Amino acid sequence: MEKTLLRFITCGSVDDGKSSLLGRLLYETGSAFEDELALVEGDLSRLVDGLEAEREQGITIDVAYRFFATDKRKFIVADAPGHEQYTRNLVTGASTADLALVLLDARKGVLIQTRRHAFLCRLLGVRRLVLLVNKMDLIGYDQAEYDRFVADFREVAEEFTAIPVSALAGDNVTTRSERTPWYDGPTLLELLETVAPEEDRSAAAPFRLPVQSVSRPDQDFRGFAGLVAAGTVRRGDAVRVMPAATAARVETILVGFDEPDEASAGQSVTLAFDREVDCSRGDVIAAEPLPEVADQFEATLIWMAEEELVPGRQYALKLGTQSALATIQPPKYEIDVTSFEHAAVRTLALNGIGVADLWTDRPLVFAPYRENRELGGFILIDRVTNDTVAAGLIGYALRRSQNIHAQELDVTREARAALKGQQPRLLWFTGLSGAGKSTIANLVEKKLLARGRHSFMLDGDNVRLGLNRDLGFTDADRAENIRRVGETARLMLDAGLIVLAAFISPFRAERRMVRAMLPEGEFMEIFVDVPLAEAERRDPKGLYAKARDGRIPNFTGIGSPYEPPEQPEIRIDTTEMSPEEAAELIVRTVIGQQR
Ligand code: ADX
Repeated sequence: MEKTLLRFITCGSVDDGKSSLLGRLLYETGSAFEDELALVEGDLSRLVDGLEAEREQGITIDVAYRFFATDKRKFIVADAPGHEQYTRNLVTGASTADLALVLLDARKGVLIQTRRHAFLCRLLGVRRLVLLVNKMDLIGYDQAEYDRFVADFREVAEEFTAIPVSALAGDNVTTRSERTPWYDGPTLLELLETVAPEEDRSAAAPFRLPVQSVSRPDQDFRGFAGLVAAGTVRRGDAVRVMPAATAARVETILVGFDEPDEASAGQSVTLAFDREVDCSRGDVIAAEPLPEVADQFEATLIWMAEEELVPGRQYALKLGTQSALATIQPPKYEIDVTSFEHAAVRTLALNGIGVADLWTDRPLVFAPYRENRELGGFILIDRVTNDTVAAGLIGYALRRSQNIHAQELDVTREARAALKGQQPRLLWFTGLSGAGKSTIANLVEKKLLARGRHSFMLDGDNVRLGLNRDLGFTDADRAENIRRVGETARLMLDAGLIVLAAFISPFRAERRMVRAMLPEGEFMEIFVDVPLAEAERRDPKGLYAKARDGRIPNFTGIGSPYEPPEQPEIRIDTTEMSPEEAAELIVRTVIGQQR
């Protein structure tokens, strides 16, 4: 009979004895770590996928996946090294594990680290927790101490199995120890060989196949390949391609070179349909009941980057094979992983775990994480640095997202613009305070007016006196400032106007977001470039002097960064060009683009 596979993760602090325990297990079962290539095909593709995703994103995750087998079963153990970047490694390893071994040093008991690990494992949906009280030999196999640790651990996890072991002396690893006559549970090996793997459970769920790739059109066989995330598919089954919900019937199932009648969760398959359908990477092939589709969610975020979350900023989101841009709202609360208390916070920092709403720029096919890890787990990537900054677990979709639909308008933006005889443009002036953004923008607007153009000006200082009166100058407030200005500008562009916006807008991420909100070519980034020293010398509002005195925290250029545009449409070097010349250059460019 085919041996089943169990994935597990080992958690513990640096010298709790993780490696000696695995060493002991291998030694006593006469097995050894094998090459990754010995993995069954499905697992291999899952691993390769993971690695490719990492490489694509330029991140290295330090989790060693190791493979070994005993007489009864095959195992993949994710060994997450216990030091730096620990959360990242633990999250990666735990997100595919069936079981977690939480190691504890019998001389130390349940530590904050232990609670943290257990909490994360549970959060990430590892259903079986095993508490290994290691180094029992060093406390004389004391049952009372052991019982105390088990009781402590019960505060963190309701359900778990505890085993008193000694990796060094070999107690209760593969054979029952005579030195713990008071313990009548299983040995570690017995437990590992008998628990049911996750896939057995998810094979019974409705069928879900996130499409990873589509065979090339020049091949006469048009197949859709991926790893089955849940359920079972049989030849002849009626399925739908989500999110479009296009119907089709499964004609062929390929698993490697075989053509079986059915395939289940955990297998890599290629499906072919009885008809031509639109289906590409990121779609999910599903059977009834169909998965949910939404673009607003509540999710738990595990923040894994040095840089804090900037609420309001767009991050790239990857949910399996689906990609989108996600805007994260301010966190509702952060969870203290040792007391489980909720605390009000404005953002999340490294290792912070919190709950926030987010919305995406396109609908996602999903399932709550607790129902399906593949369809409910995502990562967030910083769009500028390309770092993975968070792991996310979808709780549920916000209903409001399903009840609001764009209203079709009979008078189109084209009609409005045509009436004004112009093409809408957003002239986005960015640069340090005192660079001359407003001055130049003012001149530009006058010249446009003189040429009969319809325009409107949005200026940082003015907008902050009204619409954005509630915002300050933290990174998050600046992101929200720009988001609102972008939305306002978009309405004005729809009205057919040439909009001028003069905002420091110090972050690339937000300028890029506004650009992406608009039709191609409508956003013109104008970099009003001035050396900081020169802006400080001019100091028209006396703000730099105050900032240097420490009276304005987060002042751009002093307490807060300015990220210059990499490829602005127009760059104004204010040390060489007068405001008048700059305005003339801009107007000529804009008018030149008008038909
Ligand atoms: S942005 O960073 O969010 O784009 P915005 O252009 O709206 O800034 O507002 C900048 C104006 O606010 C500056 O011209 C200055 O007059 C004023 N201001 C007050 N505090 C700050 C600060 N900490 N940093 C920058 N500008 C500030």
